[in-house]
Amino acid sequence: MVTGLRCAVCGTQVDIATPLAWRCPNATAADPHHVLHLVESGAPGPRTSGAGPDLGANPFVVYGPRLAWWAFAAAHGLTDAQCADLTEEVAGDFRFTPFGSSDPLHDAVGAHLWVKDETGNVAGSHKARHLASILLHLRAAETLGLLDGRPRLAIASCGNAALAAATLASRASWPVDVFVPMWMDDAFGRRLDELGAHIHRCERRADDPPGDPAMLRFREACAAGAIPFSVQGPENAYCLDGGRTIGWEIADQAAAAGIDLDRIVIQVGGGAFAACVGTALGPGIRLDAVQTQGCAPLAATWERMSGLKHPERSWAELMRPWPDPHSAADGILDDETYDWVAVTRALASSGGGPIVATESDVLRAHRLATAAGFAVSVTGSAGLAGVLSAGATIRDDERVAVVMSGVDRS
Ligand SMILES: Cc1ncc(COP(=O)(O)O)c(C=O)c1O
Ligand SMILES: [Zn+2]
Repeated sequence: MVTGLRCAVCGTQVDIATPLAWRCPNATAADPHHVLHLVESGAPGPRTSGAGPDLGANPFVVYGPRLAWWAFAAAHGLTDAQCADLTEEVAGDFRFTPFGSSDPLHDAVGAHLWVKDETGNVAGSHKARHLASILLHLRAAETLGLLDGRPRLAIASCGNAALAAATLASRASWPVDVFVPMWMDDAFGRRLDELGAHIHRCERRADDPPGDPAMLRFREACAAGAIPFSVQGPENAYCLDGGRTIGWEIADQAAAAGIDLDRIVIQVGGGAFAACVGTALGPGIRLDAVQTQGCAPLAATWERMSGLKHPERSWAELMRPWPDPHSAADGILDDETYDWVAVTRALASSGGGPIVATESDVLRAHRLATAAGFAVSVTGSAGLAGVLSAGATIRDDERVAVVMSGVDRS
């Protein structure tokens, strides 16, 4: 059960009953390198029903009492029935996504491959899982009279996260501002528009400091009172809450299939996805984190932090922006792995490590995944690219899971 939050950098504790506990209270514009992690006590907590991993079930209902937003609501006296009602309202469209072995991929790769297929999830990727827990926290706070009006949601993204944000906000009739780069695809913009999102194309201004202008405008909006509707843990710790549902699903689905997974190989952009999968599956399953040759800040950090007892205290020296990110896996080109502290802890505790996939493996993985019947994007099949690049370091008898994390929209 989640009992609170704690900054992984400065150790500040935040009570679970604290409304809108998105960022470490010590984080400032000058010192942004803080991140709240969820604190759990005891076992992960019950499921709401005895239901097995049934594809018709809603993971936000089944695992509701394990979630931090639910613990926040309960700390203020909301009942399980009220939390379940909020879940239906905000996250009623989520269902367990398929998990199964893939013979064509097994034949092509050699390892016993198990695939979690997120391409049919809400908004076509795993991203909505991260955002649903932020919105659930907000709806709980609103229900409890702890919110002053409806502050606008803000996100900087022009990919799966933006679509997930616009989809969830539309369902909840909550206004959302999406900060995007000038080069955003017009067709994608129209989809966001149809969902009622307010799009801001962000041009670099003459007096802007270095960095992504969309991110700068997002931060300004949050400083002016918007809610960080972000899939980056340092911007909003509650994104590290709902993201865990995918790991719990995998654990329950593997158990139902009668297999013990040895390893899971996850594609990493900002790192929230791998952080959540690692936390949910625990140290008993080896987590490997995949980036591409053209953008591998995590692997570089992993090298730099070798032997350091408290790497999180040297954030700026260890996690340096990748100079020229490029890869066909364009959804994982984040120049920094924002959630590197949680990811590297999960790698270390599970005996895993970073994998840098070659660009040819990125492309080959996509071809194999598509041929095996997955309607996945190049980014979404990058975990498989990691398996290809890891090659013989994976034993033939290992049971390895990958996630096809996002649908192909091309
Ligand atoms: C399809 C897909 N898979 C994986 C990721 C990586 O997730 P994260 O940024 O949390 O590491 C992304 C991020 O945009 C994505 O769109
Ligand atoms: Zn802190």
